[in-house]
Amino acid sequence: ALITSKEMFAKALTQDYAVGAFNVNNMEIIQGIVDAAKEENAPLILQVSAGARKYARPAYLLKLVEAAMEDSGLDIVLHLDHGEDFDICKKCVDDGFTSVMIDGSKHAFEENIALTKQVVEYAHSKGAVVEAELGKLAGVEDNIKVDARSATFTDPDEAAEFVERTGVDSLAIAIGTSHGAYKFKGEPYLDFERLKQIHELIPDIPLVLHGASTVLPEFVAKCNEYGGNIPGAQGVPEDMIRTAAGHGICKVNIDTDLRLAMTAEVRKLLMEKPEEFDPRKYLGPARDAIQRMVQHKIKNVLNASNQ
Ligand code: G3H
Ligand code: 13P
Ligand code: NA
Ligand code: ZN
Repeated sequence: ALITSKEMFAKALTQDYAVGAFNVNNMEIIQGIVDAAKEENAPLILQVSAGARKYARPAYLLKLVEAAMEDSGLDIVLHLDHGEDFDICKKCVDDGFTSVMIDGSKHAFEENIALTKQVVEYAHSKGAVVEAELGKLAGVEDNIKVDARSATFTDPDEAAEFVERTGVDSLAIAIGTSHGAYKFKGEPYLDFERLKQIHELIPDIPLVLHGASTVLPEFVAKCNEYGGNIPGAQGVPEDMIRTAAGHGICKVNIDTDLRLAMTAEVRKLLMEKPEEFDPRKYLGPARDAIQRMVQHKIKNVLNASNQ
């Protein structure tokens, strides 16, 4: 069945593991992820961005996720990733999503609170849960200097006031991660002191880490080896994800690692077998590559096997 993340997060909050939230866009991606979660007997969140809804179309994604549940027998959280306004959050709740993110992080504090409250009120009235965001993830081009950090990273006192006033179920925070494949120019850095302060002030609120892909070097290398061009890609080291999971991070968002695993495999197959033109011959192995990557993530990084 489709479930909310309420009990999932309550349990993850008390232990050193986190739930993986994986972005889905098509059948092969959904199958690879769900097969991995089933194999690891792990809690699972599938998330859909506005871009994914537009690409695959809402009805297809819903039916594919329904099929995945029927086929696997797993309970799954279906979550809207980065909803930018009330309207898209309402549409997804009405479609049966059990969880939505209202991302008001680009707005001023009071506007973010007002928007989040509006979504919380509607979602809760329909039995769905809400994730909000406070603080800004650094853009790929941002050169984060020490003094600029406090302007963009989540302020612990504001976080406490924000959850109190909005009644939101979980909170995405900014401590140095960013979306995409180019997260750090030099040494990776996350502000764990800030994470600890936030978690201490609001110990009962599950925290969410966006931009949490590791940008696994083996996939980057494989892409580049087989005709790709993604130099200097760098993500969040796996041990940093493990540390975060022990300090209140209950949900770890992963999209880029799925994209890289899939693309690396497709590139390799097409390059090695130029005579091949049956899509199943490269999308099948790509699906397997996603499954292997997600199982590794669940088992060795999120520590969520059998949870
Ligand atoms: O937060 C971004 C996710 O990776 C989704 O990306 O908006 O291109 O679907 P997208
Ligand atoms: P990555 O780009 O690091 O995979 O982050 C995905 C994400 O935060 C989706 O909301
Ligand atoms: Na945890
Ligand atoms: Zn995100």
